[in-house]
Amino acid sequence: MSKSKIYPQETPLDPDEENGLLIAHITTRKELNYWEQSNIAQAMQWLAKKQQKNSLTVIFIRKLHKKMFGMVWAWAGEFRKSDKNIGVPARLVASELQKLCDDAEFWVRNKTFSSDEIAARFHHRLTWIHPFPNGNGRHARLMTDLFLKTIFNAPCFTWGSVNLIQQDSARKRYVSALQSADAGDFRPLLDFVRT
Ligand SMILES: Nc1ncnc2c1ncn2[C@@H]1O[C@H](COP(=O)(O)OP(=O)(O)OP(=O)(O)O)[C@@H](O)[C@H]1O
Ligand SMILES: [Mg+2]
Repeated sequence: MSKSKIYPQETPLDPDEENGLLIAHITTRKELNYWEQSNIAQAMQWLAKKQQKNSLTVIFIRKLHKKMFGMVWAWAGEFRKSDKNIGVPARLVASELQKLCDDAEFWVRNKTFSSDEIAARFHHRLTWIHPFPNGNGRHARLMTDLFLKTIFNAPCFTWGSVNLIQQDSARKRYVSALQSADAGDFRPLLDFVRT
């Protein structure tokens, strides 16, 4: 089986990116999920010890992706080099992320929206930019929970209270809420993240 068959459809990987798999014996999607999840668990331990203060920087956004996926993918923490069927053009990733950090800081300073809405808008923009070849959903959910904790001292989102990696009804609701947000309606996402 070609390696490309083991990845989810949302983010087809380029052959270059597939070459970055650091654990040679992974052959199934299940194994890949397992190793990624164990890498993410280590990143969460690192975060808990670190007591991160300022997470709203482009440098930190990259660093967290590297911590979450760096044991599995050689390109962890590196921005996309190619355009995808989702996300901004690759050459705009860095500037769009900087704009997002600036906008989020503005929303926080001016209390433009409620804390949940600021975090939900931050999450949506981050997934919309889609900075990395893969892992964008998991990275953006962890970034958003960190944002809630460090900036608002607020509890993490519940994200539908399920594992969103599985292709089930909660996942469909999550993606459909992001699509509503694409169209400017944040209500479904706000309801979903506290369900
Ligand atoms: N219409 C959309 N608008 C914005 N973001 C979207 C949209 N559709 C999907 N996404 C985001 O893209 C993510 C999938 O991208 P990617 O495969 O890079 O992330 P992942 O971490 O591997 O996926 P997962 O969500 O399964 O953990 C989804 O989880 C979601 O966050
Ligand atoms: Mg993926």
